[in-house]
Amino acid sequence: IKTLCSFLQIGRNMHGGNQTIISEFILLGLSNQAEQQKLIFVLFLCMYLVTVVGNGLIILAISVDVHLHTPMYLFLANLSFADISSISSLVPKMLMNIQMKSQSISYGNCITQMYFSIMSVVTENFLLGTMAYDRFVAICHPLNYTTIMRPRLCILLAVIPWVLSNGIALTHTLLLIRLLFCNTNTLPHFFCDLATLLKLSCSDTTINELVLFVVGLSVITFPFALILFSYVCIIKAVLKISSAEGKRKAFSTCGSHLTVVLLFYGTIVGVYFFPSSTHPEDTDKIGAVLITLVTPMMNPFIYTLRNKDMKGALTKLINRKSSSL
Ligand SMILES: *[C@@H]1O[C@H](CO)[C@@H](O)[C@H](O)[C@H]1NC(C)=O
Repeated sequence: IKTLCSFLQIGRNMHGGNQTIISEFILLGLSNQAEQQKLIFVLFLCMYLVTVVGNGLIILAISVDVHLHTPMYLFLANLSFADISSISSLVPKMLMNIQMKSQSISYGNCITQMYFSIMSVVTENFLLGTMAYDRFVAICHPLNYTTIMRPRLCILLAVIPWVLSNGIALTHTLLLIRLLFCNTNTLPHFFCDLATLLKLSCSDTTINELVLFVVGLSVITFPFALILFSYVCIIKAVLKISSAEGKRKAFSTCGSHLTVVLLFYGTIVGVYFFPSSTHPEDTDKIGAVLITLVTPMMNPFIYTLRNKDMKGALTKLINRKSSSL
């Protein structure tokens, strides 16, 4: 992507005439006060480490323990991988800039960051849909579970989110690199956010905004509809179970997923549907922090603290490591 960008920029310089072409952007970040910068550095470093270690342990525990080689846990490992990718696309660059007291990001790095942040958030979103479908089959068609969730379908259901999200990120990237940035290069954000970049461009961004709207809406709507449909069936099925023990058991396997879904969509709804009208830019930033950083950090806790199998696998993993040391 970086090579492609620098190549296209050369092309633009040639017919750009006497327009100044921007080769880097300035990221204003979350704050410009030195004291707050220090606090932000420590806070984001901790969040980054917790997310990478937590999700890394989930992936390790699932891949080591053969009992967890079931669709539900393999999808969870995919989600953890997307979580690591989401936070890694933003935080390291931000920490480095704070440490080096610099605010700049090169054009190529900016586009690359935008690509990976879009790709990982869209993947997370689709994977939540996949996981809901898995729970739907497990609870509403328990007898046919193994015949429906064949290995081949599982791989397909796990691969589709990654393929679609890369396609979407690529579309946005190709549409963005046609644009010219001439007057200002200051982004009031802590990473190269697509919507913020579009506001800055001096070219016509109608197509970009249209695509952003249509794709954004469908990316949220389709998985959400699938999740809603699945949970309506799940709740119906659970209500039919007469024993309290059976009810508890059915809900315990989808409780974690439901918590993650509520956290993810609750944030989106809270931030974008009830924005504070006085500081729209702050709303954008807080929303981005919550969706791209806080949700990935919470997922490991939600899944391990409530789930006996995951707890067991993690304990086994840690015991094995300490005994081999
Ligand atoms: C993602 O899911 C697929 C299919 O279930 C599985 O084969 C693969 O190992 C998973 N990826 C990760 C990183 O766990």
